[in-house]
Amino acid sequence: MNRTPTPSPLILLLSGPNLQLLGRREPEVYGTDTLEDHVATATAAASEAGFALEHVQSNHEGELVDAVGGALGRAAAVVINAGALSHYSWTLHDALAAFDGPVVELHLSNPYARDSWRRRSVVAPVADGVVCGFGGLGYRLAVEAAAELARR
Ligand code: DQA
Repeated sequence: MNRTPTPSPLILLLSGPNLQLLGRREPEVYGTDTLEDHVATATAAASEAGFALEHVQSNHEGELVDAVGGALGRAAAVVINAGALSHYSWTLHDALAAFDGPVVELHLSNPYARDSWRRRSVVAPVADGVVCGFGGLGYRLAVEAAAELARR
């Protein structure tokens, strides 16, 4: 019998504005690892959990909205570090609300311990959970949580 291998379910990792600068951007806040380092951590965690991982980084709100829309029916879960868009993008909020799988919000820093405007997230109300304040470790934790929720 000719068996085509079943493709691994997909976790979509989204990175918002300025995260392409990680490693050089405010290292005292965000650390010295690059976005590529974090994507490698997330990819390894996904693979260990039996998932494939696709990563999209954009500085443009509409591109992230398109990526979330494109994940509908295609990705099993979304992990999103929306950067500053987390605090005001209702467009991203609505796109995530339409997504049919688990959503994990992720931040390297702990926004609740920083500027007051960072204490509100418009992503959080449409996320299943939030991972923040653990630096690069958060990428592993968020992917593990997303995989576990997607399996249920
Ligand atoms: C961030 C926190 C946001 O407040 C900030 O605008 C970022 C990064 C984080 O990962 O800690 O760009 O999402």
